[in-house]
Amino acid sequence: MKAIIQDRYGSPAHLQLREVPEPAAGEGEVLVRVRAASLHPDVWHAVVGRPYVLRLMGAGLFKPKNPIPGTDVAGVVESAGGNVTRFQPGDEVFGLTSADSWANGGAFAQYVAVPEECLASKPGNVTFEQAASVPASGVIALNNLPDAGRIGEGREVLINGAGGGVGTLALQIAKVREARVTAVDAPGKLDMLRSLGADHVIDYTREDYTRGDRRYDLIIDVPGNRPLSACRRVLTTEGRYVPIGHEHYGRSGQRIFGLIPYYLVLMIRSRFDEQLGSGNRSLPGTREVMAVLRELLEAGKITPVIDSAYPLSEVHEAFRHLVEDELHGKVVLTVG
Ligand SMILES: NC(=O)c1ccc[n+]([C@@H]2O[C@H](COP(=O)([O-])OP(=O)(O)OC[C@H]3O[C@@H](n4cnc5c(N)ncnc54)[C@H](OP(=O)(O)O)[C@@H]3O)[C@@H](O)[C@H]2O)c1
Repeated sequence: MKAIIQDRYGSPAHLQLREVPEPAAGEGEVLVRVRAASLHPDVWHAVVGRPYVLRLMGAGLFKPKNPIPGTDVAGVVESAGGNVTRFQPGDEVFGLTSADSWANGGAFAQYVAVPEECLASKPGNVTFEQAASVPASGVIALNNLPDAGRIGEGREVLINGAGGGVGTLALQIAKVREARVTAVDAPGKLDMLRSLGADHVIDYTREDYTRGDRRYDLIIDVPGNRPLSACRRVLTTEGRYVPIGHEHYGRSGQRIFGLIPYYLVLMIRSRFDEQLGSGNRSLPGTREVMAVLRELLEAGKITPVIDSAYPLSEVHEAFRHLVEDELHGKVVLTVG
């Protein structure tokens, strides 16, 4: 089969399209014929091998354990391994190829073996490209949105970085829960955010949301460019600040541990600070989250936004676009 191969950590410019043996479905796995796979910031981290700590966390110490990048996939089941109960050949599926988002998951190939627990059946009303764009971003959005009580009808929710992978889905899920959503991003994305249901938009190049008069019951902060103390100013007394975390492709400069120390401190503080973190006590497994995402897609309650699609052979340009340009939705790879 054709696959994108990564022999060592470093610039995505080193990735090569090569012919390699097809994987086989193991126990509890299905072999998926890939139709589309998506790029997101964590795929970039796994390819460049930074922050370095990810190499110790399971990605592979000196070179990637799995030489094929990509964790988000949509395709057709080719065959099923032992003890697979939910899928059979011919089923259209989408999901995560690996539970570890900081390691290569093998999605950038014609075939990938995936645990059936990480997949859901693909709704017929979305394309393979749209379905492949959802899993990692959707899992982060759902796991970080507090329960419906906290963002129900009339609650004021602000999403900073609303035009990205996580933000576009978090915005739409908050609207499903009938919250009023303020979406913050670059000026070129504001029309898109309105079309996704944002009640109010803020151009971050002109306005600092932490200095406005509005108060929010929830702030979902993807880029993390304002200090917590400034965000508290615009939270209601019972409001919550939920940091997502973005290293802006290494521009944060934390090459060894990345943002991990900062987020560890916030996690510890959130035990004592009612305004910090989502307040979710336990997180559902991948199978449950994928089932929720499938339902939302099928009901037309979330619409994935695709910025651009590239063939596998143009993976270098796809990464360049991801890192350097202003995106209006997700970047996907189409696989023949
Ligand atoms: N917390 C968790 O549970 C968890 C788990 C796994 C991963 N993560 C992290 O979650 C992140 C996923 O983010 P994503 O996929 O949504 O990233 P993304 O697609 O890059 O979206 C980030 C958005 O923020 C915008 N932005 C940049 N600077 C901004 C600013 N100063 N003010 C407002 N918006 C700004 C970006 O615009 P431009 O495109 O124009 O820059 C983009 O629209 C990754 O970094 C990943 O490591 C979090």
